[in-house]
Amino acid sequence: VLKMSELDLSGKRVLIREDLNVPVKGGKVTSDARIRASLPTIQAALDAGASVMLMSHLGRPTEGEPADEFTLAPVAEHLSSLLGKPVRLEKDYLNGKLEIAEGEVVLLENVRYNKGEKTDDEALAKAYAALCDIYVMDAFGTAHRAQASTHGVIRFAPQSCAGPLLANELDALEKALSAPKRPMAAIVGGSKVSTKLDVLYSLSEKCDQLIVGGGIANTFIAAAGYGVGKSLYEADLVDKAKELMDKVEIPLPTDVVVATEFSESATATVKPVDQVGDDEMILDIGPETAKHLASLLENAGTILWNGPVGVFEIDQFGKGTEVLSKAIAASPGFSIAGGGDTLAAIDKYGIADQVSYISTGGGAFLEYVEGKTLPAVAALEKAAQEKAAQEK
Ligand code: 3PG
Repeated sequence: VLKMSELDLSGKRVLIREDLNVPVKGGKVTSDARIRASLPTIQAALDAGASVMLMSHLGRPTEGEPADEFTLAPVAEHLSSLLGKPVRLEKDYLNGKLEIAEGEVVLLENVRYNKGEKTDDEALAKAYAALCDIYVMDAFGTAHRAQASTHGVIRFAPQSCAGPLLANELDALEKALSAPKRPMAAIVGGSKVSTKLDVLYSLSEKCDQLIVGGGIANTFIAAAGYGVGKSLYEADLVDKAKELMDKVEIPLPTDVVVATEFSESATATVKPVDQVGDDEMILDIGPETAKHLASLLENAGTILWNGPVGVFEIDQFGKGTEVLSKAIAASPGFSIAGGGDTLAAIDKYGIADQVSYISTGGGAFLEYVEGKTLPAVAALEKAAQEKAAQEK
């Protein structure tokens, strides 16, 4: 794909699609990782002499109903303080009259307020394209959506390219997945096998050890023939878990942390995996298991991490995730992490600086790992091919 760094942006109207879909509470941004990740792109465009229009969605508003709850106003304010310059929030930008001065930054109000955004409507895509000389797709976190601002617009913009954040994300994922340094370990945690089945299959073909955690691990523990008591697990996926266990090394817990209730005040008990009582639920991996998995991670050439291995939000069930976090931090291998819960764990255990690459993607990260084509990336590839053919 064509990259933003290959284009002359000077004096151009540049429309950058970012993923600024961040959590907001009481009118304030509560986690700004995605905003900070987009700063180098915005700064590079400004330094190159462009006028910058930013676009993003926030949440999932009902189309055509601009509910206040989903306004990008808090994002404009936060971005302005990070950039050290005003960021104007523009609500009315589809009337063909948007004015912008050179060096100015304008944030276009939530694209999901517009009818036709989610259905990739052609007229809307054309209206976005008409705003700019150059369209930059930089929203890796939304690259799995074929929507008007991420996909349709690419066909109609005078020039389209990939922004530095999107390009970096794709490079990091490619590094981890296409020719990984061995051994490669993947950690897939979270509550349900059903939501991660494609990821597990795809990784079973790529990695040397597939570490499962959380509710997902419980289904594998059941597949190995152990009782899981009251734990969250999916009986209908036990056969699939067995199939996966035949394909790749899945190191199952030898000890687990159990409790009889799921609460902040629950008493945590460590037990061998074959002694979980009928009234107990597994809420974390045990210390012996954590130690063994940590040693695998410390020796890995590549680590891909998506999902915690226990209910780490509650301290007494967070030790497993903490030990693995520290092992990832200590590992000299290339590590890549993605997904909302994973980022929260990285923050909680303070290892952000020691992970080689932290993705801004949740769903997009998973779809890439599943081996799916990201529609926005495919559209950029097509646009680059067409341009090359025209120039011949
Ligand atoms: C995300 O948070 O994963 C992206 O911003 C995409 O949001 P969506 O799932 O509402 O399309």
